[in-house]
Amino acid sequence: MSDKKKLSRRDMLKLAGSATLATAFPSPTLTARAESPQIKAEEAAEVKTEATAEEVVNALEGAYGVHPGRRRNHTKGIGAEGFFIGNPEVAAYSRSGLFTGEKIAVVARFSIAGGNPNVPDADRGPRGLGLEYRLPSGSLHHMTMINTPMFFAAVPKTFLDKFLALALDPATGKPDPSKIEAYSKSHPEASSQTKYLQTHNPPASYANCPFFGIHTFKFVNAKDEVTLVKFRFVPEDGEKFLTDAEMASAPNDFLEKALFERLAESPARWDMIVTIGEPTDEQTNPTVLWPEGRKEVKAGTLTITSATPNAEAGSFKINYDPLVMADGIQPTNDPVLLFRSPSYATSFTRRLRGI
Ligand code: HEM
Repeated sequence: MSDKKKLSRRDMLKLAGSATLATAFPSPTLTARAESPQIKAEEAAEVKTEATAEEVVNALEGAYGVHPGRRRNHTKGIGAEGFFIGNPEVAAYSRSGLFTGEKIAVVARFSIAGGNPNVPDADRGPRGLGLEYRLPSGSLHHMTMINTPMFFAAVPKTFLDKFLALALDPATGKPDPSKIEAYSKSHPEASSQTKYLQTHNPPASYANCPFFGIHTFKFVNAKDEVTLVKFRFVPEDGEKFLTDAEMASAPNDFLEKALFERLAESPARWDMIVTIGEPTDEQTNPTVLWPEGRKEVKAGTLTITSATPNAEAGSFKINYDPLVMADGIQPTNDPVLLFRSPSYATSFTRRLRGI
């Protein structure tokens, strides 16, 4: 759809308010809502977004082909199960049921970024971890992370541009290098993640992999006080990266085997570390890291007890939409975080329909 044809939320509300009878009797509620600061902010976010969920999911398909019934991103992965025990002291920051000290069931999925179901496990791309917490209250809470502290896109358009640049050229069956170069030159904000991936080899095992929430989130306590936070999961087994020689000789699929072997010994654990932000810290740009030296709190421990190959896993039909949040944790206005929800829904719908 061209920009001209795209109607903003405010335009639609105005139209709704002015159509038919409302032309003679304009709705004060709709007109007021159309002019409200919240709608103006959402409209500004839409303009900045300059991409739709359909466009990005189509672009992922253009880059990796269509694999019916599969995720359009992070396609290769493995389901897992376990539990989380939160630190009750974190209740000072968040009233979330995650931090009561109770044992909370978790359905997890480890994955490799990109839409190639057969990507080599030694690929330099990010590793992912999706967590669905099943709170005793019946609420769900999701955290969907990767193993780099920063993201490559400050706005959804960058995500779209990347996967358009990676589109397979029908003549060669490969992406066109000149398009990739043009993308890199026009998106300098992506370079810190690229550099991070170039300087950190992939993990030897998911159990040796840290995972970062990347975005800034809001913790809300019982007094409705808001604290800006970032979080990461640090493996108790320690971070361990493949050497260059191991990367060159690693079998295509070693991560599943490594996880099964590790879990056969004992459960694997990650500490959830929360960084407490200052009010002036960056809230809406996931390519930017916070300054060193911020206060950190251990917010709990994730224990993974078992893993199951993809199609049988409980995670198989979960949409790890990061905006699924129980009371006590809220999103910021980060346009990338907000855009993930409709994109995951589009991919989820296609895979559930088997297309
Ligand atoms: C504009 C930004 C992004 C877009 C458009 C996007 C898109 C997608 C899509 C379409 C999927 C497949 C969903 C499904 O079929 O269930 C996915 C999965 C995933 N994404 Fe993103 N993503 C974005 C940003 C991020 C970021 C910032 C992170 C990490 C902080 C992330 C981590 C993951 C992970 C771990 C999965 C796999 C979840 C699973 O196992 O089901 N994504 N993403």
